[in-house]
Amino acid sequence: MERQGPGSAEVTIKALDFIGNLSEKSRIADLGCGTGGQTMVLAQNAKGHITALDLFAGSIEKLNITAEKLGLQNRVKGIVGSMDNLPFQNAEFDLIWSEGAIANIGFEKGLNYWKGFLKKGGYIAVTYESWFTGERPAEIEKWWVDAVPEIGAIGHNISIMQKAGYVPVAAFTLSENCWIDNYFIPQKARQEEFLKKHTGDKTVEVFIEYMRHEAELYSKYKQYYGYVFYIGKKI
Ligand SMILES: C[S@@+](CC[C@H](N)C(=O)[O-])C[C@H]1O[C@@H](n2cnc3c(N)ncnc32)[C@H](O)[C@@H]1O
Repeated sequence: MERQGPGSAEVTIKALDFIGNLSEKSRIADLGCGTGGQTMVLAQNAKGHITALDLFAGSIEKLNITAEKLGLQNRVKGIVGSMDNLPFQNAEFDLIWSEGAIANIGFEKGLNYWKGFLKKGGYIAVTYESWFTGERPAEIEKWWVDAVPEIGAIGHNISIMQKAGYVPVAAFTLSENCWIDNYFIPQKARQEEFLKKHTGDKTVEVFIEYMRHEAELYSKYKQYYGYVFYIGKKI
């Protein structure tokens, strides 16, 4: 799929509008970049050089091929690595970006650890699963606490960002089309192909069932949770 998580080009551009002072010399990191859906949007709408990092070599290979196809290979470089052990220097970046991936390290831990790689005055912009309401039905509460144990409400996440040493610049929710049109609908055909390719494989069946259940839960409970873009400036 073009994206491996909810999002859209419009939302990436909207978040970029809050980031000041990027120039041709700026250095940007895109952590948990996947195959680079948002990386290419960033490269086409922001100045500077982007290092995109993901754990999976197959995704990075695709990302580098796409960058080449779009003529962005001099400004976009995909590398394999882990977001909790970054191969970068202290204060190397003007901007750290991460869509749909910070839960893999943990919101608080990621904000604290990644801050060391940002210059003073640099920005962080991440999307993260968040509660929209103070309370929610037990079924969805349990599902998300199992998936992302530290999931919290928007105000709580902003205070974590502030405590980690960032000035919160903006927080806004991602619209439903980011989940439905760009994530759940494109999954359907790929799920069928994957099941066909692995007919009778119980692990694959359980995996696809989990993904389908996630989509059903979203349509039932989407007023209670979603992704939120959190943008902060290092002080
Ligand atoms: C939900 S996907 C989002 C991908 C992409 N940013 C997007 O929005 O389409 C999460 C990504 O995080 C990557 N990931 C998971 N754990 C990671 C780690 N420890 N270090 C780097 N990337 C990781 C996965 O390989 C996956 O590409």
